[in-house]
Amino acid sequence: MSTREVILTGDTPTGQLHIGHYVGSVRRRLELQDTHDCYFLLANMHAYTTRSDYPDEIHYDTLEIVRDYLAMGIDPKKSAITLQSETPAIAELTFLFAMLLPFNRVMRNPTLKDEIKIKGLGDNYCFGFPLYAVGQTADILAFRAHSVPVGEDQIPHIELTREVARRFNKLYCGIDENVEDDDPIMEENGVFPIPRADVGKVGKLIGTDGINKMSKSLNNTILITDTPKKVKKKLGQLYTGRQSMTDPGDPESSLMQYVDTFITDTDRAAELKDKYVRGDNIGDGHIKVEIAAAISELLEPMQERRAQYDGDDDTVIDIIRDGTERANVKTEETLAMAKEASGLGFFTRKISF
Ligand code: TRP
Repeated sequence: MSTREVILTGDTPTGQLHIGHYVGSVRRRLELQDTHDCYFLLANMHAYTTRSDYPDEIHYDTLEIVRDYLAMGIDPKKSAITLQSETPAIAELTFLFAMLLPFNRVMRNPTLKDEIKIKGLGDNYCFGFPLYAVGQTADILAFRAHSVPVGEDQIPHIELTREVARRFNKLYCGIDENVEDDDPIMEENGVFPIPRADVGKVGKLIGTDGINKMSKSLNNTILITDTPKKVKKKLGQLYTGRQSMTDPGDPESSLMQYVDTFITDTDRAAELKDKYVRGDNIGDGHIKVEIAAAISELLEPMQERRAQYDGDDDTVIDIIRDGTERANVKTEETLAMAKEASGLGFFTRKISF
C-alpha cells in the first residue's frame, strides 16, 4: 500500500482549459505528480447542473479537458485521470453525505451564491445544482484526499468538505470533537483525513478584460490552443486605465499580475515593473507585447503535445478508462470503510471493469 499523500482535484467540463487553469492549479499538479498519489477528476456530472440539455457538448468537452491536461504535462502513467460518472462510490457517498449536511448550510455556500448570480440562474436552477456542492465533498472524500489544489473560488467547497469529514468521523467513528484536524488519530480511527485546500501562488488570474477573473463564461480567456497572433490580440484588449507612458502605473494592476506570472526572467520582470510604476517612458502596449511573447513561448510545447491527440478519441478514452479503473480501486475501498462505519455494511461487493 502506498504511504504517499493523496491529491484530488477536478475540473468541470465547460470548454477548453485556459491559462488561468494552468497557473492557478495545473502547474501545481505537475509538481505534485512525482511525489503524491494524484487523481484528477473529470467532473462531467457537474456540467449537467446547468447544461443537461447539451449532453453531446459535455461529452466533447470532457475529452477536450483530457487533451488539455496532457498538453500541459499531466502524465497519465503517474496521475490517474478519472471520470466522475464511472466512479459510482462518489454518487453513493453524495447520497450519504447529503444526510449529514443541513440544507441551509449548503445554500449558504458563497461559491454557489456567486454562480447563481454570474450565470443568471435566478431561482430557476435544478435540484442537482446545490447538490453538486455536496457531490464535490464526495469527490474529495471518496479518495480520502489529504490535499486539494484549487483556485481561490473553491475554498468554500473545501470548507464544506472538511465539515462533512469531521462530522462523519465524529458520528460514525467516535472521534472526539476536540481532536485537531491534522491529528493522525483522525485518519487512524476515522475514515476520512481532513483535507486541506492548496491554493496556488496565483489564486485568481484576471482575464483579458483586465477586470474579472479569467473565466469561459466571461469570454476573457486565453486558451492553451491560441496562436501567438490571437494571444497578442487578446492581450491588446486588456484594460489598464492608464493614459500615457509617463503615468505612474499601479503595481497591483492586472497588467503587472501578468508580468509577475508570465515573464519568467525575474530581472526583466522587476525592470518592467519598476519602469511602469514610475511612469518611466514605458507604454502599456510595449509591456503587453512582451507578455504575449512569454505566454506564447509557454504555450508552444503544450500545443505540440496536444496535436498528438487531435482527432484521436480512442487514445484519450483509453487513458480515462485506465485512470478510472485505478480510481475505482481506491474509492470502492473508501466506500466499504464508510459503509462499515455507518451501518450500511452488510456484505462485500465487487465492481468489475
Ligand atoms: N467545482 C470545481 C470547478 O468548478 C471542479 C471540481 C469538481 C472539483 N469536483 C472537484 C475541484 C473536487 C476540486 C475537487 O472548478
